[in-house]
Amino acid sequence: MSQQYKKWKPTVLWFTGLSGSGKSTISEKVFDIINGLGYEVEHLDGDVIRDIFPKTGFTEDERNAHIKRVGYIASRMQAHNIFVIGSFVSPYKEGRDFVRSLCNDFTEIYISTPYEECERRDVKGLYAKARAGEIKHFTGLDDPFESPENPELEIDTTSISLDDAVNIVINYLNEHKSID
Ligand code: ADX
Repeated sequence: MSQQYKKWKPTVLWFTGLSGSGKSTISEKVFDIINGLGYEVEHLDGDVIRDIFPKTGFTEDERNAHIKRVGYIASRMQAHNIFVIGSFVSPYKEGRDFVRSLCNDFTEIYISTPYEECERRDVKGLYAKARAGEIKHFTGLDDPFESPENPELEIDTTSISLDDAVNIVINYLNEHKSID
């Protein structure tokens, strides 16, 4: 059966999870759907933003400062009724909770694909580099990932299709953000 779309109140859809867990891939498809329905929507993606600001570091303090800044921007856009999709590793509770506190409407989506599966995929070759000690502060290896305690959604992409993962997000919007 094809997916039905209700009318939604814009929220900040915040994807958090390990590198290679599937955040960006799911986010991009969710973006395309929301955009295709005619909403104003912005995708803030960790990899893209770090390409623009390559000196952003990976220590706990640097990541939290980075997340708080991009989260502030997300909250401002959402305050103007723009859907915001954020896809950031955002491994620390402090940074994520700060963003939640700023946003009128915040939907935390934990992409909980386990480390072993992300390492097996190793799309960007970063897991191999981290194992070899060429990358420091690598999330899940030498630095922690603090799993969200009460995310609105949790999706493990180990054994579900991209379309199924996207539909979980769309169904959530239909059930919880509908203004019909
Ligand atoms: S965050 O922790 O500050 O939220 P962000 O999502 O912006 O991270 O960027 C993470 C991306 O940077 C990863 O997807 C990966 O491509 C790359 N990266 C480079 N070094 C690291 C590292 N030490 N730990 C995690 N990701 C890293």
